Amino acid sequence: MPARRELGTVISVDELTPGMFSMWIGTGCGDSSLPGQFVALYSHDRSRILPRPFGICDTEPGKLRLVFRVAGAGTEEFSRYRPGEPVEILGPLGNGFPALSDRALLIGGGSGLPPVYNLMKHYAGEKTAVLGYRDSAMFLREDFAAAGRTVVATEDGSFGVRGNVLDAIRSENLADGAGVIFACGPTPMLRAVKAFAREQGIPCYLSLEERMACGIGACLACVTKSTEKDAHSNVNNKRVCKDGPVFEAGEVEL
Ligand SMILES: Cc1cc2nc3c(=O)[nH]c(=O)nc-3n(C[C@H](O)[C@H](O)[C@H](O)COP(=O)(O)OP(=O)(O)OC[C@H]3O[C@@H](n4cnc5c(N)ncnc54)[C@H](O)[C@@H]3O)c2cc1C
Ligand code: FES
Repeated sequence: MPARRELGTVISVDELTPGMFSMWIGTGCGDSSLPGQFVALYSHDRSRILPRPFGICDTEPGKLRLVFRVAGAGTEEFSRYRPGEPVEILGPLGNGFPALSDRALLIGGGSGLPPVYNLMKHYAGEKTAVLGYRDSAMFLREDFAAAGRTVVATEDGSFGVRGNVLDAIRSENLADGAGVIFACGPTPMLRAVKAFAREQGIPCYLSLEERMACGIGACLACVTKSTEKDAHSNVNNKRVCKDGPVFEAGEVEL
């Protein structure tokens, strides 16, 4: 579905854990979107011209859910929205995860968890989610568990496996028989997942979160280094907003 820019309406805003919010918005921008695609929200404050991108966490006809961390002024403003408030939204944007049905490991960390949850809900094949958190302030964990097998790693060991997502995968032998890996999260996590997938010979798709400006492929603010030269610009760059945010792991250098 082509992206559209429209005025949606905030349905609810809830704080899941300190600084992490869930927002349902009444809008058609998520209808027919694919897991891994994102939307961009515009601030009411016109001094913040650029929209803020968020992975689509969940959809129902005529509404979508975002889950976001307060990182700066834009997300702080969104966290204060109340039901009934209008919100300008653009989407769906970018390319989602490929529609496969091989036995999959779905890996998410931090603010990369929302689009992975959307994939978990809709993935056609056998699936195990591996979620990485700092500590027991966990968000979306119960949603994931309701959608399928879910394994948790916390850095401080307060819940699940102590360590990171790869510690959990290794300690529980989760890669045995896996046919594909999908991941979204901080760049160091993605780099480690990419190396692990290569070492295990498992196809891998990563969703990247570069800083963005236009969100529609026009400004090159969001380029990431690619292994191959781009056919149009003849440089080793890919636009995360337009060519991604999901890439086959071998396409990008992290
Ligand atoms: C495709 C995509 C999907 C995203 N999905 C989610 C999501 O589902 N949930 C969520 O919480 N966040 C998500 N983000 C990150 C989110 O867009 C930023 O946190 C947000 O734009 C910050 O806006 P701000 O005005 O609050 O902060 P700003 O004042 O713009 O920045 C505050 C801090 O956040 C950092 N920051 C800004 N943009 C990004 C970014 N793109 N990636 C990493 N750090 C950034 C800045 O470097 C700065 O340190 C996503 C980003 C992209 C590109
Ligand atoms: S944000 Fe403008 S090209 Fe990606």
